[in-house]
Amino acid sequence: MTSNTDTVYLNGKFLPQDQAFVPVMDRGFVFGDGVYEVIPVYGGRLFRLAEHLRRLDDSLAGIRLNNPMSHDQWAGILNRIVNENGAGEQSVYLQLTRGHAPRDHGFPQDTQATVFISSSPLKPVAEALLKDGVAAISLEDIRWKHCHIKAIALLPNILLRQQAIEAGAQEAILIRDGLITEGAASNLFIVKDNVIKTPAKGPFLLPGITRDLILELAAANNIQYQEGSFGLNELQQADEIWLSSSTKEVLPVTRLDDKAVGNGQPGPAWQQIRRLYQDYKQALIAGEVE
Ligand SMILES: Cc1ncc(COP(=O)(O)O)c(C=O)c1O
Repeated sequence: MTSNTDTVYLNGKFLPQDQAFVPVMDRGFVFGDGVYEVIPVYGGRLFRLAEHLRRLDDSLAGIRLNNPMSHDQWAGILNRIVNENGAGEQSVYLQLTRGHAPRDHGFPQDTQATVFISSSPLKPVAEALLKDGVAAISLEDIRWKHCHIKAIALLPNILLRQQAIEAGAQEAILIRDGLITEGAASNLFIVKDNVIKTPAKGPFLLPGITRDLILELAAANNIQYQEGSFGLNELQQADEIWLSSSTKEVLPVTRLDDKAVGNGQPGPAWQQIRRLYQDYKQALIAGEVE
């Protein structure tokens, strides 16, 4: 067994990861009853922290779990985790569950939420993926109707992602009632005739922090975009397809269901957004933006 001595936070304590334990009757373990966030860190700075904490509030409200801390308290703990793990580039994982209690579906009375935070190194996205793009397959979206909640119960996402991997692809693009929603762990963009299109927020997709930033960057640079409902046919006929997430940033999809997307190369709209995204990261590291 490999040991991990990175510093984690568990219920009020900072301690080495290999000394952090939760009771087996924790509802996160028994039921998947909890929510989470993943926050990237660049140059020791938490990326879009306020937005992540607002989404956490929404996820907690969605599962009717009180937030045990203020945003200032979260910021203090998260920054300490970042510093104790050497600042630099990291991916911070934060999870809350409804605590531990005898197994019963109904909410337990008077339990304390379990709060866990850890950090792992954030590796730069592999050059080959940026140069050649990735492959994706389209699959039926088998998830529930509350996908805006960042729930730790990810079994459908896991099964969908694994099906994509076994088909030689990196991501599953999900289709609900003929409409595109998102990836198994990413948001989805298509480009047609120089217009960026992405499914509108709602119960069928996670409101991605990266997604919002892409739209903000598009607006600030007079790049046309639309949020709305888009069909599988529009995905299949797109000039470009992108996936976005905190750890993968913006990835071009160059093969869909074993067919080339556009000319089979990462497209010009993606190149432009990628550049704007990298500039934003540099501005964050320089302390010019939050
Ligand atoms: C289902 C799903 N959609 C979208 C995203 C992208 O969200 P964000 O940009 O906030 O990382 C994720 C991230 O893991 C996800 O799991």
